[in-house]
Amino acid sequence: MSLRLGDTAPDFTAETTEGKIRFHDWIGDSWAMLFSHPADFTPVCTTELGETARLKREFDQRNCKVIALSVDSVADHKAWLGDIEETQGCAVNFPIIADTDRQVSHLYDMLHPGEGDASTVRSVFLIDPRKKIRMTLTYPKSAGRNFDEILRVIDSIQLTDGYQVATPVNWKQGDDVIIVPNLSDEEAKQQFPHGWKTLKPYLRVTRQPNL
Ligand code: BEZ
Repeated sequence: MSLRLGDTAPDFTAETTEGKIRFHDWIGDSWAMLFSHPADFTPVCTTELGETARLKREFDQRNCKVIALSVDSVADHKAWLGDIEETQGCAVNFPIIADTDRQVSHLYDMLHPGEGDASTVRSVFLIDPRKKIRMTLTYPKSAGRNFDEILRVIDSIQLTDGYQVATPVNWKQGDDVIIVPNLSDEEAKQQFPHGWKTLKPYLRVTRQPNL
């Protein structure tokens, strides 16, 4: 059965481009983004890893570690790194798991045989410091992901963990947020003393509380 939101992220030991890791120990007290790509020396993956490396500082600011995975070997990963830096203008600055025996790919259901081979599709798992899975997504091999969107989701989850709000469509840092419907107006007055706008009884908009 596939992993669901709130499940504990399966732990594992794996070889990476930065040495052997035990996943939960590697995460430590951080958040983590584990993402798979189909194969080394492929064009879309090259752009994805370059872009993620470019965004590493943004992940760091959110206390989120980044780790990639494919079923290729550490030697192949390392041989590919130069191409990523050369073509994307950014050196990879996070570990890449070499899942040659597909142990991790099976644990996280990253293999989709219907795709025609035994390589991983484009999965993303956001994992919190309690090692709980907070977000998953799976894209087909042909569609490169938008890592700004992953950062946006981290912002939303970290904000809504601390306040009784939810974030509306296309929300980004600084935009107004929605007071969760199960909070009464009386309770909301305590938490949002500056007020809110009631568009419908279930749709109350207030400014982002942690700014
Ligand atoms: C790519 O990363 O470019 C790719 C990998 C597998 C299938 C299609 C594209």
